[in-house]
Amino acid sequence: MNLVFLGPPGSGKGTQAERLAEKQSLPHIAVGDLLREEVRKNSETGQRIKAVMEAGNLVPDEVTITLTCSRITQPDAQKGFILDGFPRNTVQAEALDKRLKEENKMLNRVVYFDISEEQIVNRLSGRRSCKKCGAVYHLQFNPPKNENVCDKCGGELYQRADDAENAIRTRFAVYRQQTQPLIDRYKREKILVNVEAGKDIKEVFAELLLAIQYGS
Ligand code: AP5
Repeated sequence: MNLVFLGPPGSGKGTQAERLAEKQSLPHIAVGDLLREEVRKNSETGQRIKAVMEAGNLVPDEVTITLTCSRITQPDAQKGFILDGFPRNTVQAEALDKRLKEENKMLNRVVYFDISEEQIVNRLSGRRSCKKCGAVYHLQFNPPKNENVCDKCGGELYQRADDAENAIRTRFAVYRQQTQPLIDRYKREKILVNVEAGKDIKEVFAELLLAIQYGS
């Protein structure tokens, strides 16, 4: 099953992808995490994209397309993958179609995480992520057992630089302008399924499982 998770920043794509990946033994390919890893390593690419990411803008297409297209052809993605945060514009969607076609593959479903902006702001301001393994928590809705410590690996939790108010505003604007139009594209292709992402984490997951299996 080849899946794309599409939705505004903070809609819960990463949280649900992590759960689904565990349940269905699929790799969770979070493009934001791949990019943050480049920044953390201080690679040439990382140095180029750090400020762009912190401001909440999209990283140049050639960077994300190269990273993603090479990741989905790795051995662990041969039986399927969950692509979280890619594509985010038409150029990326076309590059993904082309690569999948070359591999005789296709997207089975694109899951749209439908949620209001009000709920999102609250989610992003309370988010904490693990420095070591990238696991995601929320101070109120999904707190770690011990303050500032990751339940999974014991790593230190931190607040992402792009969860600052200005960057959140930019990310919303970029989403509306560049990513939202993809909803119609995948609706036309009849592979879009909707999930009501404003419910609690368990309810969203239950709906996600049904949507993937039966559509919505
Ligand atoms: P990325 O890391 O992908 O960020 P995003 O799309 O803005 O999404 P988020 O990670 O903020 O949110 P999410 O939907 O995964 O929500 P989460 O599960 O964490 O990208 C970051 C940056 O990288 C971009 O701005 C851009 O610069 C660059 N980039 C990435 N991909 C790119 C691309 N394709 N092209 C160009 N540039 C790209 O949940 C949020 C919080 O809410 C958490 O605290 C969580 O615990 C909590 N929560 C989740 N679900 C629920 C629920 N149901 N109820 C209550 N709380 C919940």
